[in-house]
Amino acid sequence: MASIFNMAVPDQYRAGIATAVGILEAGRLVAMPTETVYGLAADAGNPLAVASIYAVKRRPRFNPLIVHIAGSAMAEELAYFDNRARRLADRFWPGPLTLVLNQSAGGSIADLALAGLSTVALRQPDHPVPAALLRHLGRPVVAPSANRSGRLSPTTAAHVARDLGDDVDCILDAGPTDVGVESTIVDLSGNTPLLLRPGGLARADIEAVLGRPLATPDPVATRPTAPGQLASHYAPRATLRLEATTLQPGEALLAFGPVPTDMIVQAVAVENLSPAGDLVEAATRFFGALHTLDGLAERIAVMPIPETGLGEALNDRLRRGAAPRG
Ligand code: TXA
Ligand code: MG
Repeated sequence: MASIFNMAVPDQYRAGIATAVGILEAGRLVAMPTETVYGLAADAGNPLAVASIYAVKRRPRFNPLIVHIAGSAMAEELAYFDNRARRLADRFWPGPLTLVLNQSAGGSIADLALAGLSTVALRQPDHPVPAALLRHLGRPVVAPSANRSGRLSPTTAAHVARDLGDDVDCILDAGPTDVGVESTIVDLSGNTPLLLRPGGLARADIEAVLGRPLATPDPVATRPTAPGQLASHYAPRATLRLEATTLQPGEALLAFGPVPTDMIVQAVAVENLSPAGDLVEAATRFFGALHTLDGLAERIAVMPIPETGLGEALNDRLRRGAAPRG
């Protein structure tokens, strides 16, 4: 079971922050309050920690995650802020507004947290506990709602304990959250500001600052609300051939687990997601390995990956990537 700290008690507050920072630095997960919902936090720069978020949530897909930052300085290292973004951040941060912005070069967020996108979703939570946590950690954390996939979002520490108690090391209990629904997500990565997810900050408040209406993304247009629903998003340029147990001439190999010697010899290039067959490790390497092989061959053969645990998400991405291009 997770240790639970009552953040209303000064001694427990201090111990809770110190313990949580240590857990995050060790690459494990902390449930923390925010003003919207309780979040399941991981060090955003640690690929294994990020992968374990998907494992614990049992998310069938790698949705990109929101990066939580302590303030504008941390944010501006990660993304390009134009005037619109700066105005919204000045007005509404800290608060229940997430901005999707173009990443700046050299950001240190794990690929998996961004699901291979060139944009990043940022928010500064308006709550003293994550504020203290981020200040002491000195780095951003990713934090989806602290519930299993498909369950209701948690607005109390008890919800978190009931749903995830066995899978998080520590829960910081600050009572019921103020907002209770997730942040509003606004996409400013293109010319037209889009409302990707209605949430804790009203549309009208945002539109008043922008001086124009927020467009709603057309679900069948090229900018879906959930980037993962766009098949081509995960498609490398090279052709993917799944469930490969032998190699054809000219193919690169995306391996998983032990690789037969003849396959290593024949492959144009090999990237092994996890020689030990560990799906969590495989998830952390997935987008990077596909990027590498994509530059080296026209066709990529992919060894079978089990459909269990994070394998479901990996196979989901691979099937999308292998689907006929339209
Ligand atoms: O209130 C909240 O925002 C809560 C609390 C814990 O802070 N967090 C939360 O995070 O809801 P998360 O990671 O579950 O939100 C993920 C959603 C994705 O499903 C996607 O819709 C959107 O944020 N998102 C993240 N990155 C994106 C990107 N680069 N482009 C478009 N949408 C993105
Ligand atoms: Mg959620």
